[in-house]
Amino acid sequence: MTFKLDGDAALLKPIQVGATTAENRIFMAPLTRSRAQSDGTPSELAAQYYAQRASAGIIISEATAVSQGGNGAYVNTPGNYTDRHQEKWAEVADAVHDAGGRMFMQLWHVGRMAHPEISGVESVAPSAVAADMSAHTPTGKKPLPVPRALGTTELAPIVEQFRAAARRAVDAGMDGVEIHAANGYLLHQFASDVTNRRTDAYGGSPENRARLAAEVVEAVAAEIGAGRVGLRISPGNTAGGMAEVDTVGVYEALLNRISALDMAYLHVLIDPSAPEFGTIRALWSGTLVLNTGRNVDTKFCQLEELAEWGVIGAAAVGRGFLANPDLIDRLRVGAELNEPDVATFYAPGPVGYTDYPTLADLRQPESA
Ligand SMILES: Cc1cc2nc3c(=O)[nH]c(=O)nc-3n(C[C@H](O)[C@H](O)[C@H](O)COP(=O)(O)O)c2cc1C
Repeated sequence: MTFKLDGDAALLKPIQVGATTAENRIFMAPLTRSRAQSDGTPSELAAQYYAQRASAGIIISEATAVSQGGNGAYVNTPGNYTDRHQEKWAEVADAVHDAGGRMFMQLWHVGRMAHPEISGVESVAPSAVAADMSAHTPTGKKPLPVPRALGTTELAPIVEQFRAAARRAVDAGMDGVEIHAANGYLLHQFASDVTNRRTDAYGGSPENRARLAAEVVEAVAAEIGAGRVGLRISPGNTAGGMAEVDTVGVYEALLNRISALDMAYLHVLIDPSAPEFGTIRALWSGTLVLNTGRNVDTKFCQLEELAEWGVIGAAAVGRGFLANPDLIDRLRVGAELNEPDVATFYAPGPVGYTDYPTLADLRQPESA
């Protein structure tokens, strides 16, 4: 596949995103790569992997857990809740900055998607409703257990975990953090009707189901400054067995509550032709980052149009960056894009991680 962006393309123009100036409007979407060390410390290769992709307007890191109980949906996913984690993330942030890039850390708590054989602790969720799915544990594929419903008094400590992890991210040198409220993980589980059957202040009405995500955003913004905070949502996304009877109501409540904060950005994973996209766009006056989640040749064409029209501030691209460290250069010249190798998405080691060739690599004979 090829696509050429003209020199004056909207996607190639700089943009001020809260406190961060991005050189272009093509951000790297968060991508779990399962290469972290078993204690959640990023891999020795992580600095090289991210620095290779530093020409993204902003790199959004792979989802990074705020606590041990918030990790454990997949093996070898990183955290940012110990000094050791933070030290390794500081090396990553330095390497990206040295290469001229900008980086936000995506923060998650996986809730009911965790398996105790991976996390080492009991799984928790808004309500005791299991995901009808399996996890790839170290001893094989196992069904996800019924999680324990979190008590009301356990929610403030989870907000505190996000706040502390965000502080560590900024202390490690990250330009900001993205709160992960998408794709079926804990904050999305609170939003969803299927996983949230609570009768306290965190269940029932849209405002109540949005409450935990809003409290996390507010606490993190108070800690590191709203201009360093992004939020990712995926209205209507059924990942992780999610379902929202009213796909917009809970996000309307969430955005109404946090809109005055003047955050860095709202990152929406949605097909822009979905009716929900128009509603979300109308609700959000700040910078909107769109990830279309589409795998078609027209993807960049569509994103460029939306950027030109001012509908989106920036686009986030996942697999394109995974397979093309020099994606921006390739789009500038209209070069053929490397195809992502699905078999190595979550495989250990450098293959399919740090060895995707750049255009410059392809021009050099191997013996040179
Ligand atoms: C290997 C892989 C890992 C992913 N990990 C994450 C993640 O950690 N956090 C997240 O919010 N989305 C994650 N996603 C979703 C991507 O951010 C993105 O929404 C999806 O790949 C669609 O965009 P694309 O077509 O540009 O790749 C992942 C997707 C892939 C393919």
